[in-house]
Amino acid sequence: MGLLFEALDTRCAENKVLIKTTRYDAGPRARAMRYTVDEAVAHIEQSRRILEWEKKVLVRFRNEGLNNIPSANHFFYDRSLTLDPAYEGKFGQYNIPSKYLSNEPFLVMEYIEGEILEDAMKRPEFRARLDENLMGLARELLTIFIRMHREKDFGPNTGYFIYQDLKPANILVSHHDYFTLIDFGGVTLRLGGKTTDPTAGCITPGYAAPEAEGREAYIDSRFDLYTLGATLWHAVTQKDPRDLGEFPRLDPGQLKGIRPETARVIVRALSSNPDARYPSAAEMRKDVIAALRAARG
Ligand SMILES: Nc1ncnc2c1ncn2[C@@H]1O[C@H](COP(=O)(O)OP(=O)(O)O)[C@@H](O)[C@H]1O
Ligand SMILES: [Mg+2]
Repeated sequence: MGLLFEALDTRCAENKVLIKTTRYDAGPRARAMRYTVDEAVAHIEQSRRILEWEKKVLVRFRNEGLNNIPSANHFFYDRSLTLDPAYEGKFGQYNIPSKYLSNEPFLVMEYIEGEILEDAMKRPEFRARLDENLMGLARELLTIFIRMHREKDFGPNTGYFIYQDLKPANILVSHHDYFTLIDFGGVTLRLGGKTTDPTAGCITPGYAAPEAEGREAYIDSRFDLYTLGATLWHAVTQKDPRDLGEFPRLDPGQLKGIRPETARVIVRALSSNPDARYPSAAEMRKDVIAALRAARG
């Protein structure tokens, strides 16, 4: 979605960093910008809000002591690298108000060496210890979810965060078995029984739990447990849920070559009825730890 750069921080020991910013395609193929000027401004402001939100979420959870997420090092505004002064819109050419051209957010974060789980899970070294690796991964992710799902005061209301967009493309694997959760741009805050802007409904077809169908804004914490099940199902079967439709049934019968303890955890997380899933990340983590012990013998 965005534009990403690997960069060296010249002010800080030439540390490698990742810079994330917004992208607005230009040229004749810029279908995403076939707007009126008001629609273009709304689109620009929404993209900016999401990146600003990602920074806030990262800083918040790093400050709370989570360390297998990237640290946000810096955040600044500068000239947009992809926004053009003029676009071909629905009703002819329109001009972007100039204040938007020089005011695009850039999020600088820690660069994590590794590869995304989607690639790592294909490697023989990873598959040789599949149960151990996947239950180790699930334990780390559930530790993060326990923290995110904890109710907190937000003004007069209480609410909690839902990660919302778990999938193998949003997990980095380093040294075969160290996991980092990335991409906090999809995290949403659930307040008053409903997820909130700017990220309400940021879900990925295939991994999303069935209760989201037509009701994306009403999901609760158990949605994350399903997406973890779907992520593990993808890793075991090597079948991409995105190829199976928007809300596919991920067949438990295809979970082959893993221990029964591991399979049971995945199958329960994938229950289509949220009440049949684990009631919380903490409850799921208990079974994951038991499955991890069994895998380690
Ligand atoms: N902190 C990081 N360190 C190293 N690579 C990263 C980091 N964050 C993202 N990436 C790489 O960039 C890709 C896209 O990043 P992501 O945050 O998921 O953006 P998007 O919102 O476009 O999905 C990831 O799949 C990963 O390969
Ligand atoms: Mg991503």
